[in-house]
Order: sequence, then structure tokens, then C-alpha cells
Amino acid sequence: MTHPSLDDRDGVIWLDGQFVPWRDAHLHVLTHGLHYGGGVFEGERVYDGHVFKLTEHTRRLHESARELGFHIPFSTAELDEATLELVHRQGIGNGYVRPVAWRGSEQISVSGAGTSVHVAIATWEWPHVFSADAKEHGIRLGTSRWRRPAPDTAPVRAKAASLYNICTMARDAADEAGFDDALLLDYRGYVAEATGANLFLVTGDELHTPTADCFLAGITRQTVLDLARDIGIPVVERHILPEELGGFDECFLTGTAYEVQPVRTIDKHEFQVGKTTISLTEAYTRLVHSRASTRSEAAWSGHPDNGS
Ligand SMILES: Cc1ncc(COP(=O)(O)O)c(C=O)c1O
Repeated sequence: MTHPSLDDRDGVIWLDGQFVPWRDAHLHVLTHGLHYGGGVFEGERVYDGHVFKLTEHTRRLHESARELGFHIPFSTAELDEATLELVHRQGIGNGYVRPVAWRGSEQISVSGAGTSVHVAIATWEWPHVFSADAKEHGIRLGTSRWRRPAPDTAPVRAKAASLYNICTMARDAADEAGFDDALLLDYRGYVAEATGANLFLVTGDELHTPTADCFLAGITRQTVLDLARDIGIPVVERHILPEELGGFDECFLTGTAYEVQPVRTIDKHEFQVGKTTISLTEAYTRLVHSRASTRSEAAWSGHPDNGS
């Protein structure tokens, strides 16, 4: 069954401090953020009614806005609270949360001066990005002609909407060529990441991942690095050339939406879904369901168990 369009659903969206009916969460065509890319967003995951690493994501939303030169007029605590109440109101057990902040429509100059900043949060059920078969056997990546830009060319540390145009173009070309996703190199030609996830490679017992100096150092990437160190897997963060890919045994992607996603091929290179990928997938699955680092709607101050 195909879902109705994202603008045509029941329920509520949190918009600038209010819960509004889902279909009424509109913005104007002269919105600055729409014309000039002045927007930042997050992707969060709900497991068993709990938002995994909620506060880390909310903090990153603020940092992304700061990087783009605007200030989100709600504190981390206020946005966390709004998210928890929204997840509760929407009755989400396993799903996705999308906070977004953007410059408003006060003026059309490229300058951001005088623009108000708006924030919205939406959540819906969305349990898996790839099929069960892809989860078990891995996905196929094709190297894109698009590259991650240099830190003096774009706000590479921000989860900025403007950076995602590259991802959309890379992803669409990959889909058309019969791949599941694209691998992007960086401006120097090093292996960088996929269109919505970070990349890991395994050789022997070692886990290698590209140094995150011009792309998003994902929250899942850091979680998986910590899990690997806990399990005793040696970790190497370094610049990796595409010519080296043939020397690796395993490959996987990490991201809030992708979780730990095995990769079966990158162009002509083949990888196994081997023991390192499997043990990190299992450790990650255990962690997200363990409620460590999660915030639940039971922590929301309006919850009946909290006496209000
Ligand atoms: C381009 C890009 N890289 C990496 C990631 C992984 O980040 P995280 O693990 O924080 O979700 C994402 C997803 O948010 C992404 O969109």
C-alpha cells in the first residue's frame, strides 16, 4: 500500500510552539529558506516509543543553525519536550522524527538580516529504509560524479538543507543506474559517505572509516565507533582512496535512518556481510532497544506518570 502524500495525513505537527493540524502546517512561497537554502534539519528515530539520542540531535540542530548564522528561538530543553509530547500525541511506537528550522519570509534579499526563524517537528511511523533482503545481504552503491565540498566552500559540519541537493542528484542518478544508493567522494577524491549515511570498511580485524573533515560526522557513526571500541575491534579513522576499496572484506553504512546497513558492492568491488558487520549490527540493535541514551514520552513533563 502506498502512503498518502506527506502533506495529507491525520494528526498534528509542532510548529513554532503550537500543535497544529497536520494539513495546516504551511509556509509562504516567499520563504527565504526556500529560495536561498537557509534551513537545517534533523532525522531522529523512535524505538519502542523512545527517541534515541534525542538531546544530541536537538543540540546538533542548534549547532547547524549557528553554522548558517541564525538562532533557533527555542532551547534544547523546549524542543526535546515538544518532541516527546508530539511522539506521545501521535502514538508513535517505531518511527521517525523530522525537526526542521528555516528563515522566514520578511524580505527577499540574499542577506539573512531581519528574517525570523521558524521551527517545526513532525513524526510518523517509518520503520525501515531498505528491504529485509537488503538488510541481510547488503545494498549496491555506485560512485557518484558529485562530490562533498570543501569546508571553505560549504557549511560541511551543518546538517544544512542546502547540502542535500548534491545528495538528491547523486541518489537519483544512482537509482537510475540500478544502484540502491550513491557513494560520494570528497573534493580531494577521498571516499566520503553515502547520500544519507556514513561509510565503514573492514579489513581483517580492523574497522576503517573516512576522517569526517568535510562531511557530517554522524551520531550513529560515533555510536558505532564507541561500540566497536567496547567490543575490542581496532578502529582506524583516515583518508581512504577509492583505489583501496578492493582491499576491504566488508563494508557497511551507518545513519539514524539506515541504522547499520551492510553494503554488498561498490561499483565492481564485492564485500561479504561478515562477522564485524554482523556483530556491530547486533550491538547497535541491542543498544537502540535498551533505552540507554533514549528519551521517552514518559520523561515528558506532561505525562500522567509525572504528576501533571
Ligand atoms: C549526508 C549524511 N551523512 C551522514 C548521516 C548520518 O548521520 P546520523 O548518524 O547522525 O543520522 C546522515 C543522516 O543524518 C546524512 O544525511
